[in-house]
Amino acid sequence: MKKGKFIVIEGCEGAGKSKQSVMLKDALIARGFDAVVTREPGGAPLGEKLRELILDPSYAPDAVTELYMYSAARRVHLNESVFPMLESGKIIICDRFVYSTIAYQGYGRGLDVDFIREVNRKTIEPLKVDLALFLDVPPEVGFARKGGADKSDRLERESLEFFGRVYDGFKAMSERGELVRIDACGEKAQTAEKILAAVLGAL
Ligand code: TMP
Repeated sequence: MKKGKFIVIEGCEGAGKSKQSVMLKDALIARGFDAVVTREPGGAPLGEKLRELILDPSYAPDAVTELYMYSAARRVHLNESVFPMLESGKIIICDRFVYSTIAYQGYGRGLDVDFIREVNRKTIEPLKVDLALFLDVPPEVGFARKGGADKSDRLERESLEFFGRVYDGFKAMSERGELVRIDACGEKAQTAEKILAAVLGAL
């Protein structure tokens, strides 16, 4: 099925994922590649609707429900958007993916990580990720950067302790070699260069 490439950008709040995803897309397009940015949760009409529900602070789903909500949004995103774009040969830059589920619902909420990996495997098949980057910015630095948490986002109402566990999750995945760590604490342009070099090396 797959002709394009699937690249993931992960990290904590305020790590600069969204801005860096767009900068990467522009840099790839400038080099003649057909690149697009998408995001999770979201990235497709039904996926964006699910995103609103998942992040709405008026609901309080438990960790298992959260896992399945993110997974449902992910499957919709893949079917409606990612698989057709891969088929047409695009380089897809995805702002968050299955690694966020391991970091947030696993390390953050305390759900069994092996169980999450199994759900993730089934949710994304037959997709293979070509490259997954972890933009390493500690959560306290990330929140300071973005001027505090966005309280209209249910997840951002969590404690700094929660985000500390999420950060440890991303670090553990980079130590296992699942994520390639990029130090993203410096200047935006410097980080963009590191990301581009890692991606060009994987194309
Ligand atoms: P965003 O703010 O980066 O767009 O992501 C929305 C929130 O959803 C963010 O706090 C991380 C969280 N999230 C999870 O908890 N699990 C997941 O699987 C994904 C994709 C995101």
